[in-house]
Amino acid sequence: MTTNELIKKLFIAFSKKDEEEFYKLGEEIINLEKRKKHNIVAKELKEALYSKNHSRNTSEKRFRTNMPIPRDNDSGFPLLEIKQFELEWEQLILSEKTNYALKQIVLGFKSYEVLATFNLKPKNKVLFSGMPGTGKTFSAQVISSYLGLPLVYINFDAIISSYLGETASNLRKVFEFISNGIWVVLFDEVDIIGKNRDDQHETGEIKRVVNNFLQMIDNFEGDSLILASTNHPHILDPAIWRRFDEVINFELPNQDERMNLINLYLKPIKKETEINVSFVCEETEGFSPSDLKSMCRDAITHAIINERDTLTNNDLIYSLERYRERIDMRTINK
Ligand SMILES: Nc1ncnc2c1ncn2[C@@H]1O[C@H](COP(=O)(O)OP(=O)(O)OP(=O)(O)O)[C@@H](O)[C@H]1O
Ligand SMILES: [Mg+2]
Repeated sequence: MTTNELIKKLFIAFSKKDEEEFYKLGEEIINLEKRKKHNIVAKELKEALYSKNHSRNTSEKRFRTNMPIPRDNDSGFPLLEIKQFELEWEQLILSEKTNYALKQIVLGFKSYEVLATFNLKPKNKVLFSGMPGTGKTFSAQVISSYLGLPLVYINFDAIISSYLGETASNLRKVFEFISNGIWVVLFDEVDIIGKNRDDQHETGEIKRVVNNFLQMIDNFEGDSLILASTNHPHILDPAIWRRFDEVINFELPNQDERMNLINLYLKPIKKETEINVSFVCEETEGFSPSDLKSMCRDAITHAIINERDTLTNNDLIYSLERYRERIDMRTINK
């Protein structure tokens, strides 16, 4: 391929947000320059190609593997992503009960060998259920950091969006891939695939796909930790629930948890002494951790764009009011 053709493909990969293809083409361009003995150009291109990884938040890195990432035959989109996180368990703020249940999963997973001497196996198929923004996806990232294993994130949209005939084969490809390593695997927002099998609108084909998914979960014997998340537990088929060793509920934070979350999210900025975080905690019942995070970011932004380096109570109240309006709109539009 000529440089022109490669650059054209590179642009297409960029616009499709196909990171893997983008890096592959980048490497090809570099190799082309090397073959032309343009060694300095090749070196500069290489530095430029990977510069993003250096400047980026170090809590998330792409993981490289020799195994090809499975793709949808029709669209060519990758069916999964592999990422590595560097998050601390303490960044996760949950009720004691949920936190304990999650810890038991990772401790069980770490004790794989000891358990085996007792002929026991750790629970390795876990369903996370709970409202949006309560930390299901985030917990998977924290668990992957804690266990030091890459996170395989399954892109359900890509699996389903193809012709239905391809869907079952896509699922098979995903399971084949994950069987070849030890990972934390997240099937995120499984409701898409797990919609009640009795639903009138479902075609026979999608029912087959759901059955297929269940069978693959059932038959999965690998050493990975399989997580799945849903925020619509009521639409999930009971047959799906049964396939998991454990279901963990993510609830909205109570007042103490909201206090911890707000303090965590306001950490980056100096605060005026009379700032009243307890008041904001009382006023934010029903907010998810993700809502609180956005609210705190808005408050910090409000201070900064108004040229102050110290957060005032006004900033906090202003963002609280704004965010409350948004939440009200969200419930009205439901
Ligand atoms: N329990 C939590 N503790 C600390 N931070 C949290 C928590 N829950 C959510 N967050 C913050 O909010 C962001 C969004 O949360 P996350 O994506 O995990 O929600 P979710 O439960 O997966 O929601 P959805 O059901 O919409 O996918 C996280 O990246 C994290 O920064
Ligand atoms: Mg999520």
